[in-house]
Amino acid sequence: MSKSILITGGAGFIGSHVVQLFVEKYPSYKIVNLDALTYAGNLENLKAVENASNYYFEKVDIQDALELEKVFEKHAITDVIHLAAESHVDRSISDPLAFVKTNVFGTVNLLNAAKKAWEGELDQHLFYHVSTDEVYGSLHDGGFFLETTPYDPQSPYSASKAASDHFVRAYANTYKMKTVVSNCSNNYGPNHFPEKLIPLCINNIKNMKPLPVYGKGENVRDWLFVKDHARAIDTVFHQGKAGETYNIGGFNEWKNIDIVRLLCKKMDEKLGREEGTSEKLITFVKDRAGHDLRYAIDSSKIKNELGWEPSLQFDEGIDITIDWYLVNEEWLDHVTSGAYQDYYQQHYH
Ligand SMILES: NC(=O)c1ccc[n+]([C@@H]2O[C@H](COP(=O)([O-])OP(=O)(O)OC[C@H]3O[C@@H](n4cnc5c(N)ncnc54)[C@H](O)[C@@H]3O)[C@@H](O)[C@H]2O)c1
Repeated sequence: MSKSILITGGAGFIGSHVVQLFVEKYPSYKIVNLDALTYAGNLENLKAVENASNYYFEKVDIQDALELEKVFEKHAITDVIHLAAESHVDRSISDPLAFVKTNVFGTVNLLNAAKKAWEGELDQHLFYHVSTDEVYGSLHDGGFFLETTPYDPQSPYSASKAASDHFVRAYANTYKMKTVVSNCSNNYGPNHFPEKLIPLCINNIKNMKPLPVYGKGENVRDWLFVKDHARAIDTVFHQGKAGETYNIGGFNEWKNIDIVRLLCKKMDEKLGREEGTSEKLITFVKDRAGHDLRYAIDSSKIKNELGWEPSLQFDEGIDITIDWYLVNEEWLDHVTSGAYQDYYQQHYH
């Protein structure tokens, strides 16, 4: 085995696509998925690779330093791709400390475990930290986030991610650990937990339930298909320069309300409903506290230096996404009923 890569948060939305890509594309790598299986972790996301000979799963919380050390030793981990996090802004508003515990404390634990395991050869191993564009704050006057944009996090979620980014860079500077950070815009696609805008709307439109939209739905986000993010992570992992940061985005800005209307229109067509049926479900609700107005990422650096760019246009990606949720009814039923949480017991015990 040429590499033994620890991917944290591999049972989550983005992590599951990264794990699948690495397991299938690099049969000579050992891929160790480490995940605590919180409400957001779903091993059903990994059915396609769960029996692959180069895939391993460890149910471990990154808050547990001793267990992390054991995993590094057991699998002779050579590199880390760190995605495990609490990731939902609304949850961070009601429980900020949970975000500090996993995103900050957990990341520092992981850095320490890597530092200990790689002592004396820190320059030969990579610690890749996956982060978000939300660390840059909110754009009010046009423009884009660059890798050099000063951090200005506005929510407990983005503050915790910003802190974790700073720790990763501090370990690079202080201990000469080989690190790389990428900051990506909003992802959409299969395996997305239906608490986030796009899968929530698809599920509610399907079931003719209200579509809650914050404020007037004027907030703007840049959307990237999740498999394109996984490809970008593959590119940065293999070609990224140590110590660098790469912004990843789709050059694809949408107001929330326009996304919701697009989903209504497309799903009316796909479900054979009369045009306008689903739009009637739109329900404006009180805005999220401190809701960032606009995020927009400039991903020229990764394009120019590493040759990555999105492969899908949004129209195509959103069709693939809706069709996936309509076909994978069992996945959605298990997630909404909570049955997905039994999967670990059934398959790993
Ligand atoms: N979703 C996005 O649009 C987006 C955009 C940019 C960056 N990111 C970042 O990418 C990463 C993955 O995001 P996601 O949307 O896939 O998140 P997710 O919430 O779908 O998945 C997170 C995963 O981490 C696991 N996890 C949570 N706490 C843990 C802990 N203490 N120990 C071990 N595992 C734990 C969960 O079980 C889950 O499998 C996060 O770091 C997030 O900040 C997400």
